[in-house]
Formats: sequence, C-alpha cells, structure tokens
Amino acid sequence: MYTETVMDHFKNPRNVGNIENADGVGQVGNAKCGDIMKIYLKINDDIIEDVKFETFGCGSAIASSSMATELIKGKNINEAVELSNKAVVEALGGLPPVKVHCSVLAEQAIKSALYDYAQRTNKVIKGLENFNPEEEEHSCH
Ligand code: FES
Repeated sequence: MYTETVMDHFKNPRNVGNIENADGVGQVGNAKCGDIMKIYLKINDDIIEDVKFETFGCGSAIASSSMATELIKGKNINEAVELSNKAVVEALGGLPPVKVHCSVLAEQAIKSALYDYAQRTNKVIKGLENFNPEEEEHSCH
C-alpha cells in the first residue's frame, strides 16, 4: 500500500525539529483528522538555508513533511512557493488516494511559512498575494 520511499521517510524523517529565530514559521491543521504541521524556515538572501518541521499527524503527513522539506532546502523562495502537493506525492512514489490530502498539508504549511517570511520582510512572493493563513484549514477526503 505504501511505497518504500514513503516508509523510509516515515521511519527516518529528515529535518525534524524546529529552528530558533526562524525567518518564517507556518502552521496548518486539518480540521477533520486534527493533524497539525508546523514548518520553520531559515532564509538568507531569499534562499532557504535550512528548514525543519514538526508534524503531529499520520504517517503520510510525516513522510510528506519530510519529503517536502528536502525538496525546498537550498531553493530560492520563488521556487519553493511553487512546490505542489503533487510534486511531493510524485517524489514519494505515490500515496494511496485517501492519503493525498496529507500531502496538501505539507504544501500549505510551506506556503504559510513563506507568507510569514514575506510579511516580516515586506516582500511580495508571487503566488502568495492572496494567501490567507486563516483559511488554510483542510478537511480529510
Ligand atoms: Fe490527517 Fe493524514 S494528515 S490523516
């Protein structure tokens, strides 16, 4: 049911933890399952130098966070904002259909952290102009 990559990232998640004095922090929750994901970004010159996550959630959410953080590390903020949940699922080699929403949480948590960074630095990140963190609650299925 789960690919080896999913199991690997679930059992040995990369980038777990938090960053003190992070430049951007984002948290999103899934209203139905109650899972919560928090992303911390260390950004220098618009490059994501470090990223950490804390996920209180299902295995797929943990694997998605782990993969998503790996995918944006070292990237420019404008590249990172384009990371879609589809790209995370692809990198994981697929997720069962009922678990795809868990990867959406990762995409939204990253966007939320980037939005926080943009707010703090008075920057406009293309694609986040209309982002509203208050609305980023996702329901399962
Ligand atoms: Fe809630 Fe996966 S994120 S079930």
